[in-house]
Amino acid sequence: MSIPIKNAAEIDAMRLAGRLASEVLDMLTPHIRPGITTREIDRLAHEHMVEVQGGIPATLGYQPPGYPAFPASLCTSLNDVVCHGIPDDRPLKDGDIVNVDVTVIKDGWHGDNSRMFVVGNAGIAARRLCQITFEAMWKGIAKVRPGARLGDIGHAIQTFAESAGYAVVREFCGHGIGRRFHEEPQVLHYGRPGTLDELQPGMIFTIEPMINAGRREIKEDRRGGRPYDGWTIVTKDRSLSAQWEHTVLVTETGYEVLTVSAGSPPPPAFATAGYGGARATALAAPA
Ligand code: MF3
Ligand code: CO
Ligand code: CO
Repeated sequence: MSIPIKNAAEIDAMRLAGRLASEVLDMLTPHIRPGITTREIDRLAHEHMVEVQGGIPATLGYQPPGYPAFPASLCTSLNDVVCHGIPDDRPLKDGDIVNVDVTVIKDGWHGDNSRMFVVGNAGIAARRLCQITFEAMWKGIAKVRPGARLGDIGHAIQTFAESAGYAVVREFCGHGIGRRFHEEPQVLHYGRPGTLDELQPGMIFTIEPMINAGRREIKEDRRGGRPYDGWTIVTKDRSLSAQWEHTVLVTETGYEVLTVSAGSPPPPAFATAGYGGARATALAAPA
């Protein structure tokens, strides 16, 4: 099996899907405050994707082999939830951290991205985890260029996260994306430089590290003795977990982040150092 290469028209379609996915997060941002429920966040996002964007929420009814159909239009992963949290009726509390992961299908093409939100006034440890995870994602993105290998991305993320004292989740990875939500390649967030597939212009994949404040091990969420919902993953040691995600294109000279919009958090300085040069385009939010 090989990694799909997108042509110019397909890349244009992916730029649109990516921008729309990012704009859903922009729209949600002022709403993510103490008291709102994740179900309400889901409803706002669903309505925006369908009514405003003319798109389809990719997660709603999504059912990979062995899973139940996902019941919501986004994932909300709160505190010790690593990924795939299902929106529910509990209100967000001051000090929570929550990942909101949105995937929009527009004209048949997928844009996939997530951000961390700090609810009200969170402690220094929670804020540092979110910040380091953001930078870890960008350490991976900054490796993307033709001739680099997937192992270079994973290695950059792992060494950065581990030197900050955190652990990288191994069981979930980034993924190729296009007409399909998840396609080749798998993008591991750990690894060894110079290993795995070589990147070529026209490849599009996500980079979406899950970083734990404690140990890297995870488990299915059966908190409170409830039956497993089939999706929600938590840290085994109940430590906090954070995640950020962008959809990234390999260009002739470097990379282009496709999930950008006016509200995209600006890249860290180490990623913008070459901005305007050959390495990267569309890094920053449009003015
Ligand atoms: N958006 C997630 C990703 O980044 C996948 C969510 S699948 C769902 O790949 F069914 F849990 F929504
Ligand atoms: Co993804
Ligand atoms: Co996602």
